[in-house]
Order: sequence, then C-alpha cells, then structure tokens
Amino acid sequence: MFIWGLITPMVLLTELVTGRAINKRRACDSIDNGYHCHEDISRSWGPYTPYFSLESDYRSAKIDKKCKVTFAQVLSRHGARYPTEGAGKGIKTTVDKIQAQAISYSKKTAFIKAFNYTLGADELTTFGEIEMYNSGIKFYRRYKSLANKCNPFIRASSQQRVIDSGSQFTQGFIDEKTKKTGNPVSTFPPPVIIYEGEEFNNTLDHGACREFEDGKYSNLGSDAQATYAAKFTNRIVKRLNMDIPGANISSGDVINLMSLCPYYTVVEPTGDPLPKFCDIFSDEEFKNYNYYLTLGKYYGYGPGNPLGPAQGIGFVNELIARLTGSTVNDSTSTNTTLDGNPATFPLGRKLYADFSHDNSMVSVFSALNLFEGTHDLSKDHSGHGHKFNVAELVPFASRMYVEKLKCEGEKEELVRILINDRVMELKGCDEKKYGACSIGDFVEMLKWARNGGNWNECW
Ligand SMILES: *[C@@H]1O[C@H](CO)[C@@H](O)[C@H](O)[C@H]1NC(C)=O
Ligand SMILES: *[C@@H]1O[C@H](CO)[C@@H](O)[C@H](O)[C@H]1NC(C)=O
Ligand SMILES: *[C@@H]1O[C@H](CO)[C@@H](O)[C@H](O)[C@H]1NC(C)=O
Ligand SMILES: *[C@@H]1O[C@H](CO)[C@@H](O)[C@H](O)[C@H]1NC(C)=O
Ligand SMILES: *[C@@H]1O[C@H](CO)[C@@H](O)[C@H](O)[C@H]1NC(C)=O
Repeated sequence: MFIWGLITPMVLLTELVTGRAINKRRACDSIDNGYHCHEDISRSWGPYTPYFSLESDYRSAKIDKKCKVTFAQVLSRHGARYPTEGAGKGIKTTVDKIQAQAISYSKKTAFIKAFNYTLGADELTTFGEIEMYNSGIKFYRRYKSLANKCNPFIRASSQQRVIDSGSQFTQGFIDEKTKKTGNPVSTFPPPVIIYEGEEFNNTLDHGACREFEDGKYSNLGSDAQATYAAKFTNRIVKRLNMDIPGANISSGDVINLMSLCPYYTVVEPTGDPLPKFCDIFSDEEFKNYNYYLTLGKYYGYGPGNPLGPAQGIGFVNELIARLTGSTVNDSTSTNTTLDGNPATFPLGRKLYADFSHDNSMVSVFSALNLFEGTHDLSKDHSGHGHKFNVAELVPFASRMYVEKLKCEGEKEELVRILINDRVMELKGCDEKKYGACSIGDFVEMLKWARNGGNWNECW
C-alpha cells in the first residue's frame, strides 16, 4: 500500500478505486459531490453520514474570476470507519440479547434471528479509504493553481485511521497531479504525527483539559442525549417489542440497531446496497436519530459545552500563524516543541492539510465563531433545520477549507471558510465579498481564541 517518502504513482489504491469488481456495481461516492445515494435517510446518520457536498446558499463556493487563491488549508475528518470498539461491544450485546430472548419475529425483523455481527473495529473501511482518496483528488482540483507548483504540508493525529486517511488523501492528490501535469510526484515527506492522549498537547485531538475530559463538563453531551433518547425512542421501543416479543428491547438497543444501518452501508466498498436494518425505521425516525447524535456533539464539544470551544483554540491559533506567516502564539493545546520547529510547523507554505476527528473539528468550528448567535438546541424535542447539524458539519471524510483570496479591487487579501463546500457566514467581521473578510478583520474577529479563551478553566 501507500508508503510515505518514495512514491510510485498509480499504485494499488488506484486499482482499488477503478477496479472491475467495484465498477460493476454502483459506486455511491463521487469526487465532486460525495455520497449521493439514498438521500432520504443517508443524510440523517449524524457522524456516520458519508461526506456529501452541501449546497452553498449563502455565497457561491466557486472561486470568482476576479480572485486568485493564494493559500488553502484543509482540516479533514478521517473517512468512514467501523464502529469503535466500545460501540461494537454494545451493538453485539443488543443483538445477542434479542437472539437469546425473542419468542418470534415479524416479517421485517426476521433477518435478525440469523444475523451475525462481524464488523471490525476503529479502522477505516474500504469505502472510507475511497472517500479520502477522492477527497485528495478534489483538493488538488480546487486548488490546482497552487497545487501544480507545490504539495500540501501534512499533519495527522496519531490514531491509525487518521494517519491512513492522510495517506489516502495524499495518494489521491498525487495521482491526480501526476495525471494532469504529466510529471510524476517522486517524493513526499512523511506527515507530522501528533500523539493522542491526556499527557499530550494536540490541536487535532482533545485530551489535555481536565475539567473537560473528566470534570464537571464531561457528561453534558451524553446527558443531553439521554434526555432526548428517552423521548424519541419511546414509540420505537413499543413497536419493536410488538414485532419481536420477548426481546425486551430498550432505548439503548434502539440506538444500537439504528447504527447498524449506516455501519453496514459503509462496509460496502460502493456504499450500496443498504442493509436490512435501514428498513426497520422510518425516514422521520432517522431524522430524530440524527438529532440525537447532533445533541451529543453540540453539548459535548460545541457551543453547548462551556469548555467545548476551548478545545479548538489551539488549532485556531495555528491557523492564524499560517495565514499571517507569524509564529504560533498559544498557551492552550499546542505542542510548542512541534510548533516552534520549522521542520514540523513550517510557515510560508501555500497548502496545508491536517487530519483529525469529528469531535475536535466541532470544537474548532466553535472557536472560529461559526455558530455565534444560534440558539441552544432543545433536549426535549428535535429542532430540524438548525444550523448545527452533525450530518452536515462532520460526516465521515468531512472537510473544512480555509482559503485566502487575492481579488481585484481589494487592497487586503481576503479569507473565507467552507465546510463541505458550503461557504460559512463569518460572524463578527466585516464581509467584503464572496463570503470573505479581510485578513486583518478575520484575525481581529478571533480575539477570543487569540487571548486563550477560557482555557484557564481546565484546572
Ligand atoms: C459468525 O461469523 C464468524 C466470523 O465470520 C464465524 O466464525 C461464525 O461461525 C459465524 N457464526 C454464525 C452463527 O454464523
Ligand atoms: C510534543 O511533541 C513531541 C514530538 O512529537 C513529543 O515528543 C512530546 O511528548 C510532545 N509533548 C507534549 C506535551 O505533547
Ligand atoms: C427488561 O430489561 C430491563 C432493563 O432494560 C430489565 O430491568 C427488566 O427486568 C427486563 N424485563 C424482562 C421481562 O426481562
Ligand atoms: C502543553 O500545554 C501546556 C498548557 O498550555 C503548556 O504549559 C506546556 O508547556 C505545553 N507543552 C508543550 C511541550 O508544548
Ligand atoms: C500573544 O498573545 C497574548 C495573549 O493575547 C498577547 O498578550 C501577547 O502580546 C501575544 N504575543 C505576541 C508576541 O504577539
């Protein structure tokens, strides 16, 4: 597979993507638009939603003819993965319980009787690898005026699926660049790996802030979810216990069964067909499931948690350093050994790519003020249509682009932010054009993060 350092373009992965076995069936991931199958429910799977391109209704995502991109940073989540080990155990317990206790099954649930849970844990699925490979192609294409001349500087948080996502992305980028320029990319430096864990400072994965990890703010997300789960699963619990008498299905079992719909979708290399678990629940029930998952992120890592946005400060300060070409000024989660060294934190590059997790990305978006002025999400009833929707913000292989534009008629360079191709409204800075603010205004707007926010409340 892919090896950092020396690169042979068009290696194995290309065969995987274009291979006959996959081409024969319908491939649901596409380079431009991401996942485009079963839209009625596939966009209601919270963080298990496969990446799809969002409509940009606020401002056009296109790069205007009057502008040139001078800088681009992508912050990406890893691609689709198997359930985490803990989630997998919970799912298996639910399945085992049903099979042990069920007296009978309805027609729609009959398949559960002989169902065998065999998914792996934690790592990317083949579909997830393809998502990331396609993401690298897309990044090259969007920024090709820069990408033809240079390669992105790459960092990844240390979990294997995140590193693997970075290498798939890089391979996609390289293959597309080689194809378009005719010049094989011969070397590519290995990524900077940032260790995960409470003893480490890591801007791509939270862990070092004690009150947030283990203290008074550590259960806000799961508490909000528990409140809402008791309500939205109520009718489903009753129905399933009629369909499968004896099984004694609980609210938690419902959540586990629902998750098997996305999980068994993304183990198909094509992302198709949908497994039978998807048929046991209605579109509306999946919308509520998505809301349930959204609550976990909002109160766990986002604006609903007093220390959620603080977990994103370190990355924001790194971003400011890269945008302005000045050294990192941060006393939160940055690793000064890494960020003080030009080999591991070079300034003056035009392309950067960082690989991370959904939770930390939610914190980064929050530290960037992207949700300022939105009302808190209700824990009692679903608030569909709220700007904070996890399926849109941090699906598998989701990505934020921060781009700097040099535009005719603008003295200063402009900055704007796109999440999954949607131009985000920047709160607290003066929009010039294209959904962008001047670089000066943009940095000014981020003063909460520049001043360290409320990181001091971590202890
Ligand atoms: C379930 O799958 C595992 C792994 O593939 C296999 O070893 C086992 O025999 C299967 N069990 C049943 C009941 O089919
Ligand atoms: C900072 O990064 C270096 C290099 O990876 C590592 O050895 C060190 O343990 C890290 N320190 C912290 C506090 O994260
Ligand atoms: C059903 O499950 C609950 C726990 O979720 C347990 O307290 C209860 O005893 C179970 N009822 C039966 C009939 O097994
Ligand atoms: C890690 O972060 C803490 C808190 O900001 C800081 O005091 C410490 O110097 C940092 N360590 C490194 C290696 O950056
Ligand atoms: C770094 O940030 C702190 C807090 O905002 C500020 O007081 C200090 O002047 C900054 N240092 C530099 C060198 O910009």
